[in-house]
Amino acid sequence: MSDSAKSAPSATFRTTDVIRRKRGGHELSRAEIVHLVDGYTRGEIPDYQISAWLMAALLRGLTRAETAALTDAMLHSGQVLDLSEFAAPKVDKHSTGGVGDKTSLVLAPLAAAGGLVVPMISGRGLGHTGGTLDKLESIPGFRVDLSTAQFKAVLRECGCAMIGQTPEIVPADRKLYGLRDVTGTVESPSLICASIMSKKLAEGIDALVLDVKAGSGAFMKTEQDAAFLAELMVETGERMGKKMVALITSMDEPLGHCVGNALEVKECIRILLGSGPADLRELCLELGAWMLHLGGRADTVAKGKQLAAKLIDSGQALEKFRRMVELQGGDPRAIDDPTRLPNSSYLLEVVSPKTGYVSAIQCEDVGTACVILGGGREKKEDSIDPAVGIVLHKKVGDRVEAGEPLCTLHYNSDARAGHAKQMLERSYEIGEVSPAPALLIRRIIPGGSA
Ligand code: URA
Repeated sequence: MSDSAKSAPSATFRTTDVIRRKRGGHELSRAEIVHLVDGYTRGEIPDYQISAWLMAALLRGLTRAETAALTDAMLHSGQVLDLSEFAAPKVDKHSTGGVGDKTSLVLAPLAAAGGLVVPMISGRGLGHTGGTLDKLESIPGFRVDLSTAQFKAVLRECGCAMIGQTPEIVPADRKLYGLRDVTGTVESPSLICASIMSKKLAEGIDALVLDVKAGSGAFMKTEQDAAFLAELMVETGERMGKKMVALITSMDEPLGHCVGNALEVKECIRILLGSGPADLRELCLELGAWMLHLGGRADTVAKGKQLAAKLIDSGQALEKFRRMVELQGGDPRAIDDPTRLPNSSYLLEVVSPKTGYVSAIQCEDVGTACVILGGGREKKEDSIDPAVGIVLHKKVGDRVEAGEPLCTLHYNSDARAGHAKQMLERSYEIGEVSPAPALLIRRIIPGGSA
């Protein structure tokens, strides 16, 4: 690739001094940030020093200039893809992370079926949230570690490809993401912005749709914090000449009914078949509409939504998904027959202690319960159990009788299931009246050209 653009070598700093300056609440210079990012990427600065800096950055916050410098340093820790060979607009979508948040698996093939090119670089599970790569890897054989040449070959064949950060593309985020996951340093708007935007800017895209989650299962618990993060990312993308939009969407309960890697792939297949839960379909149509609109395939978002529905209902999006799975080494028979996806050995129901209405679900606890079952990581080295997870039978607003199942755990270890069950019992709140329906899409923050 002619697309390499490494950062200039940083001036020499003592890493301890840089950490102490951030701990003291000072603004770091661009050169200090490049020192940290490049030193860590090259393996010269150890995990424990970067962990300390991440914690200082989370507690003290980063200024806009620091956030911009961090995004740039991470972007240039590796190559920036050159996708100029593709005539069609290159569009992507990225979520800030949620529970049961699986729309990427539907949207990449949907937008490709609509004639766009979707070069999607995704992440693994982070904290209590699931990751697109872990979900995809539950498809037998599916490879997310393609080289740049293989990635481009898949894009040429079917218009969409979904991979992880490679040693070539944003290697800094590959390392920092894993470290943040296990050091309690995820929930910083600046760190999230730099992580997401460095990956997205390295993809060589023209436009980006952001799904910024707000609520009890999101990293940003309030709409105000989500809006701050959304504006930061829209501003960062526009500075780099990208068409941008951010949708602030509700994460006060899991999206859809399934939480857990293979379970979520099965739910996405149902959506691609034209069925599946209404909230998940609605969000896929809305985000898909924006992708098609920013990519120039629909004059308005409303027309984009009609086109998105047509691409699902005609089976074209599913066909793209099957093709992408095949091209990335996965078994396409698992798409036609999802029983071939991993299944857990045991099931356990969590039942309602009383009759009433589900008034709230502590969404982060549902995500954590899935991690406890083995569906996410507690430590960097942990491997994922693709089969485990939770199927929610009742969601907020649903009527429930005493003794009726609220959700079912899919599990492989009794000890883990016991702990997760307690957590899920606590996470459901049952009240006497049905709560007012919540808005799924709370706010839209368009960039200047959206
Ligand atoms: N998704 C990412 O890619 N990075 C984050 O930090 C959070 C969500």
